[in-house]
This record gives sequence, C-alpha cells and structure tokens, in this order.
Amino acid sequence: MSAKAAKIVIREVNKNQRLVLGLASGRTPLGFYQRLRLAHKQGKVSFNNVIVFNLDEYIGLGKDYKNSYGYYLRHQFADKVGIKDSNLYLLNGRAKDLKKECQNYEAKIRKQNGIDWLILGIGKNGHIAFNEPGSSFRSITRVINLTYSSRLANAPYFNSLAKVPKRAITVGLGTIMRAKNIILMAAGKNKAEIIAQTLKSEKNRAVPASALQEHKNLIVILDKLAASCL
Ligand code: GLP
Repeated sequence: MSAKAAKIVIREVNKNQRLVLGLASGRTPLGFYQRLRLAHKQGKVSFNNVIVFNLDEYIGLGKDYKNSYGYYLRHQFADKVGIKDSNLYLLNGRAKDLKKECQNYEAKIRKQNGIDWLILGIGKNGHIAFNEPGSSFRSITRVINLTYSSRLANAPYFNSLAKVPKRAITVGLGTIMRAKNIILMAAGKNKAEIIAQTLKSEKNRAVPASALQEHKNLIVILDKLAASCL
C-alpha cells in the first residue's frame, strides 16, 4: 500500500516540481512517508519546490507539541525531505481567531490553484481529515467537535482519553473534493467495514468518506485486510 502510493507521488513530483500536496496524518501513511524519505535520500526525487498543506489540527496544540499534526508532518516528512518553510502550510490550532485561520487557509489553497494530489487515511467512523459524520459535503475549512470514536482512536498518543483535545480544525469535504487527484489509503481489519460502506453504500453524510464516490480521479489503495469486506 505504502509503496504504491509513494510510487505515484514520486512520479508526479518528477513530472511537476511545484506539485501541491495535501497530506494526512495518522498511522496509515507512516510507511508512505518512510518511502518518500528514502527516495529523497537516494536522490530519486527532489521536493525542493513542492508545496505542502496539512489537512487538520487539534485545537489548543501548538505546532511544536509532539501530538500536533504540524509536528507530525514536519517530522515524518517535510523537514526530512527539504520542503521549504515558505512552501509548508500548517493549520494553527492555537490561532486566536480560529474562524479567520480557517478562512485564510482556504484562501491559501486557492492561491496555489488548489491541491494537485491529496493523500487521505480514513477513521473507523468514516471521517476523512477530521470531517466527522454529519459533515456537509460542501463544507470548507472549519472548526469541528471531535467524536468519541475519533478521540478514542487517538487516545494512545496522549496516554489518556481525557487529554485528547475535543475540537479540531479540518479542511472540509468540499475542500477535499476540489483536489484534482485523491489517494485514499487504508490498512487492517478494523478499516474493512468502513471501507465497504465508503465505496458501496449510497453516498450519505453518516459516512463522510462516501463523498469520494463522486470524485473523478480517486485512487483507493488497500491492504488485503482492509479490502476484506468488499
Ligand atoms: C486521524 C486523522 C486523519 C487520519 C485518520 C485515520 O485522526 N485526523 O488524518 O487519516 O484519523 O487515522 P489512522 O491512519 O491513524 O487510522
């Protein structure tokens, strides 16, 4: 799964040095980032002019806090492959004016002519980025209340559920659908059921990822277990 996704992104960056990437956090893409780091180290790809947007951030966590997605993206990818600071767009979970932070982020994406390749994982409840069930298919970058399911899934990072932030900023489903190309990755048995719902149930707001059914350039990359309910 990771190798396939990395191969695509390396191919695209080699075609367009100024590619605009939108990158997910979480466990799923760890192997993908590892392969991109390796390819960079081996001189197979240059990320010098690539532009990167992260997709979500916990509210209240600074970008230097180790459980923030800003920290994750820098340490798993951006800082390791030479993404320029001026080309790295991170959501600020400690912005004083969160509404403005969200509006500015949408504007920054638009200014780059949108995201060329968006890499997504999926939550057990069907969330993509942090678009929880019930999110509007037209939603844009905004503040969202995290569900119990999402907080529970991330509790191990914080050592306790109580410490997991209750809110996040996330790009919207509308933002995601405007990306020119999307790769959705999932691995493991605990994603099998939601992957089946995402791809086979009727598009509905209870499964935010089902919005992807209507995307013109969607690539789904699964391991065998995640594909086992299809
Ligand atoms: C997280 C993130 C998403 C991620 C999803 C799945 O909490 N907000 O960006 O894709 O949930 O996470 P994981 O890959 O760890 O299963």
